[in-house]
Amino acid sequence: MAAQATATPSALGLGEWAYDRGEFVSATARRLPLSTQALHYGTGAFEGIRAYRSDSGLFLFRAREHYERLLRACQVLRIIAVPSAVEELIDITVELLRRNGHEGDTYVRPLAHKLSLLPNTPPGVSLAGVSDGLSITTFGFPSGGTVQGTRCAVSSWRRPPRDTLPAQAKIAGGYVTSALACDEARAAGFDDAILLDHTGNVAEASTANVFAVLDGRIVTPPDTGDLLPGITRDTLITLCRESGTEVVERVLSPAELFTADEIFLSSTGKGVVSVTSLSGRDIGSGAIGPVTTRVAALYDSATRSTAGAHPEWLTPVVTDGDPRAGGRTVGEVPRGSRTRTTPTSGKQG
Ligand SMILES: Cc1ncc(COP(=O)(O)O)c(C=O)c1O
Repeated sequence: MAAQATATPSALGLGEWAYDRGEFVSATARRLPLSTQALHYGTGAFEGIRAYRSDSGLFLFRAREHYERLLRACQVLRIIAVPSAVEELIDITVELLRRNGHEGDTYVRPLAHKLSLLPNTPPGVSLAGVSDGLSITTFGFPSGGTVQGTRCAVSSWRRPPRDTLPAQAKIAGGYVTSALACDEARAAGFDDAILLDHTGNVAEASTANVFAVLDGRIVTPPDTGDLLPGITRDTLITLCRESGTEVVERVLSPAELFTADEIFLSSTGKGVVSVTSLSGRDIGSGAIGPVTTRVAALYDSATRSTAGAHPEWLTPVVTDGDPRAGGRTVGEVPRGSRTRTTPTSGKQG
């Protein structure tokens, strides 16, 4: 393991320390060879996890579900040399956040990837016979309390079908489609793109799921379609249903989007974002609508309040500057969440 880090508060930008293949190292150290397979073939999978500053400290939001999704992706890509237990991955993440001294909202980026050809593996594209690794970096990432509006375009790029690119995982190579769609939208003066699937129905945005408000009901494409089953999507559906708001999961046509009262996007990175116009046409009144505002408030309170209905979604992170840290013990921990005080050994699983 690398030398012990001193916690350097990092409100913004890349945290000083990263986790890479079993060690805590400088986040800017150059460690991967140019021959890294994932760099050439996109054979990696990543996650985006948020830690939110709540009323009683910093908490990772739904870290368990994010790491479960990452481990499923690792299975698909035959990535085996990473800790295989969600608990261990969460412990490593909590320790990394502590070392980096993030006190405010933070973004955590785990990346599992294929690395180098093992002896007797012929050169070329393969999964078996290739070593692998896992890195985790963290970024200070403050998020505002108010809902943002965004102008989207319907993309000419289609979301690849799930029999071409596994839909249930954030496979690195698949993000070429997102990048093409985003680039096309931005070059045309929009902020983001909504992609259709190969049948011409709504799939998802470049890095978010799509919801529409139609005749007072919230509709979103089913997670059996060609889309990433977002953890934010699941969070919103759960919170809406618990608060008595109906959410219908069904095929959604692009024509319905143009006539929707409201459209909103959901993702870990962006939270809940209102789509105020689509391909140059106003959605509803062209302003952020009341349903989107209500859903965003539900999400905000679930991510930031330990008194909500889902304490099991929150993992406490105790940094050295945290008043709870005194001797590195966790003080008040919400009902149902787990206390983490043990630094990881850093060994590779
Ligand atoms: C293609 C795509 N769809 C949907 C989402 C939303 O997923 P989640 O809510 O789990 O962040 C993301 C997240 O980045 C994404 O990249």
